[in-house]
Amino acid sequence: MCGIIGIASNKQVSSNIIESLKKLEYRGYDSAGIATISNGEIDEKKCTGRVAALEKIIFKTPSLGNLGIGHVRWATHGAPSKINAHPHSSEEVSVVHNGIIENSTILKKNLEKTGYKFKSQTDTEVITILLTDFLKKFDLVLAINKTLEKLIGSFALGILFKKHNNIIVGARRGSPLAVGYGHNENFLGSDSYALKSMTNKITYLDDGDVCILSNDKIIFYNKNGMKINKRIQTLSSDKQTADKGDFKDFMSKEINEQKFSTKVCIKEYVNHLKKDINLYNFPIEPKNIDKIVIIGCGTAYHACLAAKHWFEELTSIEIETDVASEFRYRKIKFSKKNLYIFVSQSGETADTFAALDLCKKNEVKTCSVVNAVESSIARSSDFILPIHAGPEIGVASTKAFIGQMLVLYILALKISKIRNEIPKAEYITKISNIKKLPDLINKTLKCESKIKIIAKDVYLSKGFIFLGRGPSFPIALEGALKLKELSYLHAEGYPAGEMKHGPLALIEEGLPVVILAPQDRYYEKTISNMQEVIARGAKVLLITNEENNIISENIRFSIEVPKTDNQLTTFLITIPLQLLAYHIASLKNLDIDKPRNLAKSVTVE
Ligand code: AGP
Ligand code: GLU
Repeated sequence: MCGIIGIASNKQVSSNIIESLKKLEYRGYDSAGIATISNGEIDEKKCTGRVAALEKIIFKTPSLGNLGIGHVRWATHGAPSKINAHPHSSEEVSVVHNGIIENSTILKKNLEKTGYKFKSQTDTEVITILLTDFLKKFDLVLAINKTLEKLIGSFALGILFKKHNNIIVGARRGSPLAVGYGHNENFLGSDSYALKSMTNKITYLDDGDVCILSNDKIIFYNKNGMKINKRIQTLSSDKQTADKGDFKDFMSKEINEQKFSTKVCIKEYVNHLKKDINLYNFPIEPKNIDKIVIIGCGTAYHACLAAKHWFEELTSIEIETDVASEFRYRKIKFSKKNLYIFVSQSGETADTFAALDLCKKNEVKTCSVVNAVESSIARSSDFILPIHAGPEIGVASTKAFIGQMLVLYILALKISKIRNEIPKAEYITKISNIKKLPDLINKTLKCESKIKIIAKDVYLSKGFIFLGRGPSFPIALEGALKLKELSYLHAEGYPAGEMKHGPLALIEEGLPVVILAPQDRYYEKTISNMQEVIARGAKVLLITNEENNIISENIRFSIEVPKTDNQLTTFLITIPLQLLAYHIASLKNLDIDKPRNLAKSVTVE
């Protein structure tokens, strides 16, 4: 989490730092700060809240200088306050940090014993003080190396030096850091998106790398201290843009965009003329796969759960799913005949990356389903399946979730075909149904006017329950997660059949319960569970297919999604839940794109 920017230029840098911080704000937004080198001194300015507040400060008192670093924070150590905001500066250096220094308490104690005083409660300040101390005894490179050697944990760093006032140092262990090449200026950034308006020539630091950049030169060292060259990549221009257009916020834009993003994704994988799916150089022969393990966090994990059902329905392969933060600490029995799939929109999620790393150390085949194709997870896995959703800026994931499910579904279908586990005619029908998905999503989006009415009826409730069975259960989890994230309401997603084992006690008069009951083999059972909650006073919102004609006076609202293939119905029933969370948060006047306490890219464990 948190966003870092650094610019070494031959012109003033503060306005470009502010513009880049605005792009990085999705990564953290509890405070913001900037440091520039002005007249040979470090000029540090910081504040709580958003980049807009920092911009106002700079407007009144400009931050001058051709060299600067900036930061948007997602607090891990110490409250979101001005004093804890980054940069953390001494009389010699100024540091911005993304990550966690796990041994900061002990380092701080030792430094305090030698007389150093700390201003903040952050873990980051130990880096500032350590470096200040080592600079008294060693030259620049050695002082940096000595400092980094002392740190346990994860970091991406941007550092300014009072005495070396034409360079910025970048360093990476765990947290991502990109380097951009400009004309008479060079850049550091937490992601390429922040640098895109300034350059399309990018490289990435690998774990343990350090770089020293000035406006006309960049030197790289690897983790062994050897000078290295890096491969420069040219960034592609996104077909889908990262501005809000006519939409009120990114989330409404991204929900709406799902009709286009799915089309782009389908075009990349499905050849409608040949009625087949292209996976190009898939790294493992599907016929030899014993087991597929699908791993992710949060919404991405829900996509893994939905995919488990499709793989099980379409193939005879054993499927396991896990959240990355659990997987990485389990005693896993790895096998070369297994395929390990990592699902991540950002491709930078620390737990997912660590789980992937564990697989790599065990020399098993890995594949990533990512949106950010230049991300750490994408670069580290054996094979990438991009979801082609375009930039997703709203912290609550919507179009990336649909994209993740789509790619996993396409993968399940193709693997089933290669293993001769699906009849040819059925495969062809499913391929033509996929083509219709964007249009069906578009039709489903029309339920928004009804959802607005429903949202008005329920937004003051204190809690919500979402129920589903089979592949609708992960969607119930996702619906509950979206509502929690956006409207700070308590929401539970449950397998409908589990209600009587405890959660039924939560049902009371007027409690909103969302029932996901598409026409599938679970339908009758789910409808019975719906009756059980209605009998106890729940206010039911039923989501089902068109033409189901469920007549029950006691259903408060119902939304019917278009009829299609059962597996694709899972995509459609997601849309009303995204809209419901959106409109409830909107009625509560909350910050839809930047919910409290969250960040888009979770690069700390
Ligand atoms: C989604 O709405 C959430 N913000 C969150 O659960 C997210 O899906 C999770 O942090 C994983 O992110 P990733 O896909 O970038 O790995
Ligand atoms: N651990 C640091 C802090 O709490 C950095 C957090 C971040 O990555 O934003 O200040």
